[in-house]
Amino acid sequence: MMRPVKKAVFPVGGMGTRFLPATKALPKEMLPIVDKPLIQYAVEEARDAGIEEFIFVTGRGKSAIEDHFDFSHELNALLVENHKLDELESIAALLPPAGAISYTRQQEPLGLGHAVWCARHLVADEPFAVMLPDELFLSDTPCLKQLMDVYDDKGGCVFGLGEVSPEQTTRYGIVDPAEDDGRLVRIKGMVEKPKPADAPSNLSIIGRYILQPGVFNYLGRQKRTVGGEIQLTDSMAELLGQEPFHGIRYEGRRFDCGSKGGFLKANIASGLERAELRDELREFLKDPDRAS
Ligand code: UTP
Repeated sequence: MMRPVKKAVFPVGGMGTRFLPATKALPKEMLPIVDKPLIQYAVEEARDAGIEEFIFVTGRGKSAIEDHFDFSHELNALLVENHKLDELESIAALLPPAGAISYTRQQEPLGLGHAVWCARHLVADEPFAVMLPDELFLSDTPCLKQLMDVYDDKGGCVFGLGEVSPEQTTRYGIVDPAEDDGRLVRIKGMVEKPKPADAPSNLSIIGRYILQPGVFNYLGRQKRTVGGEIQLTDSMAELLGQEPFHGIRYEGRRFDCGSKGGFLKANIASGLERAELRDELREFLKDPDRAS
């Protein structure tokens, strides 16, 4: 039996500079896709995959995230008074049980690896998931659940994998496959943001991971590499050989909402999935110049 994965880490300490000025006072993770903030999609995905403890690594200016997952007496009272019961239900549904969320702070945004390392005491000696909330997945089976199914069979570390074009390898962690059956990939190496000529494959690590706590030993060395940041990929690469490593080509659609184009596409795709918006949006997309 594999040790179950019950904890997920949500690194939300980044500066979100690509979305300035929107992110000057608003955390990037609170940007809405239709009417729900990105972070809520990630929390719901984790919950649907069986996660029971939600660990946020926050930073300065991120208090809106804590407020979002808190009980609001004033708002509840107002919605009851105005008979807005659907709205009341929608905000009640987003609250994880009391005590299920914990927060720790990354004092400086030194990179994803550093953010994950900041959660080490809360994760303790257990396997855990890492969810990057600026990646949104629209799929029948939640992306993290797809990883969990592989983990239940193989154990060790599991990542989601996406295919990238050669010129995109400099933006992602790229894996070196040992075996590849078209969906499941056994991984023998990985490298962060390689030049196309140095990339071992076209398979990039996407923002969903299941990791073993041994990764903290390497993150603790605080080695800065690509971009002067402490990279998660480097510490995972150190763990190779000690744990099985697998990746899956997830089923579904992924949107990189950390980029403006990806964020806009995610809004359109999610809007098209809403019965109350679909027709209006389709009409607009047919002839955007004519829209009012
Ligand atoms: P990104 O690199 O996409 O986020 O990290 P960023 O640095 O905030 O964005 P830009 O590039 O300046 O626009 C992916 C996730 O990792 C978190 C971010 O908050 C985001 O959710 N992160 C990143 C941290 O928590 N700490 C860091 O030091 C870096």
